[in-house]
Amino acid sequence: MSARSGRPDWEATMRVSAGGTTVAVLDGDGHTPDEVERHLAETGAVVVRSTGFTDIPGFHERVERFSAPLIGSYRGGNTPRTPVGGAVFTSTEYPARYPISLHNELSYAGTWPDRLYFGCLVAARTGGATPLCDGRALLEHLPDPVRERFTSRGVTYHQNLHSGHGLGRSWQDTFETADRGEVEEFLAGAGAEHSWTRSGGLRVTHRRPATREHARGHEVWFNQADQWHPSNLPGEGAADLLDLVDDPADLPHWVTYGDGAPIPGSDLDAVRAAADRNRVVVPWRPGDLVVVDNMAVLHGREAYTGPRRVVVAMGRAGHSTAV
Ligand SMILES: [Fe+2]
Repeated sequence: MSARSGRPDWEATMRVSAGGTTVAVLDGDGHTPDEVERHLAETGAVVVRSTGFTDIPGFHERVERFSAPLIGSYRGGNTPRTPVGGAVFTSTEYPARYPISLHNELSYAGTWPDRLYFGCLVAARTGGATPLCDGRALLEHLPDPVRERFTSRGVTYHQNLHSGHGLGRSWQDTFETADRGEVEEFLAGAGAEHSWTRSGGLRVTHRRPATREHARGHEVWFNQADQWHPSNLPGEGAADLLDLVDDPADLPHWVTYGDGAPIPGSDLDAVRAAADRNRVVVPWRPGDLVVVDNMAVLHGREAYTGPRRVVVAMGRAGHSTAV
């Protein structure tokens, strides 16, 4: 509080910046949804330290103050997650020794969450932070020809889902049903094309823009091209995986420019370099909550050691007026 005015001194809140990314850092459990939204409008990401939750119901209760309604399904997602209560999920189950690159959640899908809420129950021994990167800054830091290729051509995501045995995920797990008609309806609603394979698998393609206009009127990077490309795999992972298939289109997921042309590795390197230049890292402590405007700011995960437990909930824009 400001001693002079008696009003919340929100302009004086701590901010952490790197490149073109700024994150607001608040402390304690008394912050109102309006206050958090006001910071989000300026920075796109807010870290609320020491909110006091120690379990999933406690996290859920705090998140519900900020978002109505929460999104209760991760249908169509390309990574495994487990619901752990209400609309709360584990964050992506990916080996701890590898980082997860910066991305906008579900940017390859027909709809995506406006808000992401991450909560820390157990902090890793080392690493494990959730890096953040402003999508406008990333776009501005791309070399002009790379930006032009992405914005003019868009991105096509290719999913190759087996029906029970094979590389990656099955279509039944991905779409949370064994009913083909239900999957087809979901994909039509998501604006994705599909074809069933002779072995009972499913191929899906989603053609999407590489950037989108944020509600505040500026263009943001909004795609996961670098993540869907085998070059995203650590170490020898890409070479190992490509050895297993004759055609990259047979990989569990694959990405091209929107017109079907391959995306050169150098273009993806430029994307990763621009993301790195604008990356803010605030280490987790148990009880911390991070609120992200998913269109404005990308998130990722550092590699880590120890028993990290970070959960996530997703919501629409807007919030309950109740505090
Ligand atoms: Fe994510």
